[in-house]
Amino acid sequence: MKNFFAVVIGLLLLALQLVEAGSNGGGCKNPIVRKEIRSASDEERKNFFEALQVMKNNGVVDKLAKIHNDQANYVHNSTIFLAFHRYFVKVFENELQKAKPGVSALYWDWTLDAQHPENSILFTPEWFGGNGQGDDHCVKDGIFKEWQFTTIDKHCLKRIYNKGNAINALYPYEAILGNINNSANYDQLTHAIEGGCHGFVHLGMGGDMTEMYAPNDITFWLHHGMIDMIYYQWQMVDYETRKNDISGKLVGGVEEISHDTPLPGYPDVKVGDVLDFKNNLLCYVYEETGTAKAMKIAEEAARKAAEYKKSQGSGKGNSKRDLLGGVLGAVGDTVGNVVEDVGDVVKDVGDVVEDVVESVSDLLDAVGDAIKDITKALGLEDVDLNLLDPKDLKLPIPDKPCGGWVAMTGISPALIDEQHKQMVQTIKKYNSMKYYISPSAIHYAHRLAAIRNATTTSTPVVVPPRRKCIPRTPSPAPAYSALPVAA
Ligand SMILES: *[C@@H]1O[C@H](CO)[C@@H](O)[C@H](O)[C@H]1NC(C)=O
Ligand SMILES: *[C@@H]1O[C@H](CO)[C@@H](O)[C@H](O)[C@H]1NC(C)=O
Ligand SMILES: *[C@@H]1O[C@H](CO)[C@@H](O)[C@H](O)[C@H]1NC(C)=O
Repeated sequence: MKNFFAVVIGLLLLALQLVEAGSNGGGCKNPIVRKEIRSASDEERKNFFEALQVMKNNGVVDKLAKIHNDQANYVHNSTIFLAFHRYFVKVFENELQKAKPGVSALYWDWTLDAQHPENSILFTPEWFGGNGQGDDHCVKDGIFKEWQFTTIDKHCLKRIYNKGNAINALYPYEAILGNINNSANYDQLTHAIEGGCHGFVHLGMGGDMTEMYAPNDITFWLHHGMIDMIYYQWQMVDYETRKNDISGKLVGGVEEISHDTPLPGYPDVKVGDVLDFKNNLLCYVYEETGTAKAMKIAEEAARKAAEYKKSQGSGKGNSKRDLLGGVLGAVGDTVGNVVEDVGDVVKDVGDVVEDVVESVSDLLDAVGDAIKDITKALGLEDVDLNLLDPKDLKLPIPDKPCGGWVAMTGISPALIDEQHKQMVQTIKKYNSMKYYISPSAIHYAHRLAAIRNATTTSTPVVVPPRRKCIPRTPSPAPAYSALPVAA
């Protein structure tokens, strides 16, 4: 049924796009809908993978990696980070559509995999494969395992997870919401994202993803789809004010960005053209995962459960204790009248037990119903939280990012520290809410069930030893005016 609707909606969207294409750009009336890769139908994913194979065969995948590598010094450690990458994902999407009409960019909501990213379905043999293997760290499974790259030299796809066979925890949605809430303007948001959640994904996967030719790894595009969606969600908080909001310094910290600033690698395109996702050039929207909604439900349930527990300490609770005291009193006082009273005592005890059971189950209901609602909001089947290690009911605190990557992007260590501190504070706040259950935990329980269910077992991975954090010397910041005119 779900697939049927997906196909119908897919056909409608395709029809709308054709109408749009035929109308010669008469405004963004029928925006492309970008989905989370797991929310896309099997058919949509198949088309996406097929379009990518076409783009690999005709050299586009390698060309895009080269553009990113060539422009690296201009598009990082700069307020242009979000704007440039927004356009870059659009270029990728245009290429997808050239390769296979109707295919749109997909994104990866890694907040759902935040606790144990290495267990994500994305890293399975049926999808993008897992960690690199052997001395050369080549990825030997996944649909694109045969690919060889040309940027910057001939090589296989490399991944080197930053915790041996595991990946350091990523930002949960709680921390993303913190970034959205705490960023009053574009400049604040772009720095919070670049030096925060964005880096964790690159760094966690390692290999090509920690190089400036990261687009060799297709997950780069899904990751930057997510980064762009966070920017989109921030704009949607106050769309009219934020749709064209721009501010901050370009690389080198001298020149101020403006709507007329040309984009690195795309000199004909100006920053002002790539801010409003509803404009003609961009014209897309995101189909959001239920994460934000699930978080709201979880917060509300935690608040209610805490209130309920508190109410047990007074009023209602006292009357129960009184009742219990009365029962015990009755038992003690009336040795002589035991036989006579026993009927009443049993009745009273029965009532107390019933009340206690009722209050506990009320509490469980509050949280249990919320779990169902969260699960539903996330688009999952029922989950069994018993599958989780109890510590996974809370959010892990991700380790601070490795200094080497920090140096490569040129982002100031002080900014990285500040972002990390804020994220840790947010996670601790949610972890201290007694009855709060993060969508990340629920999603992970679901994933564990699927892993246990899996009929196909992947070949055991030979995991290379954990890589040391090798410091790198940053390349000196160029002046933005040194930007090469032609790509
Ligand atoms: C973000 O703001 C919303 C709305 O004001 C609030 O409910 C939520 O708790 C805030 N969350 C964080 C992490 O700042
Ligand atoms: C990063 O930006 C800051 C502030 O603009 C600047 O001081 C620093 O030199 C830059 N680092 C690199 C490597 O570009
Ligand atoms: C596990 O397998 C059962 C039976 O095939 C299926 O109904 C269920 O949806 C699966 N659960 C997950 C989480 O994949």
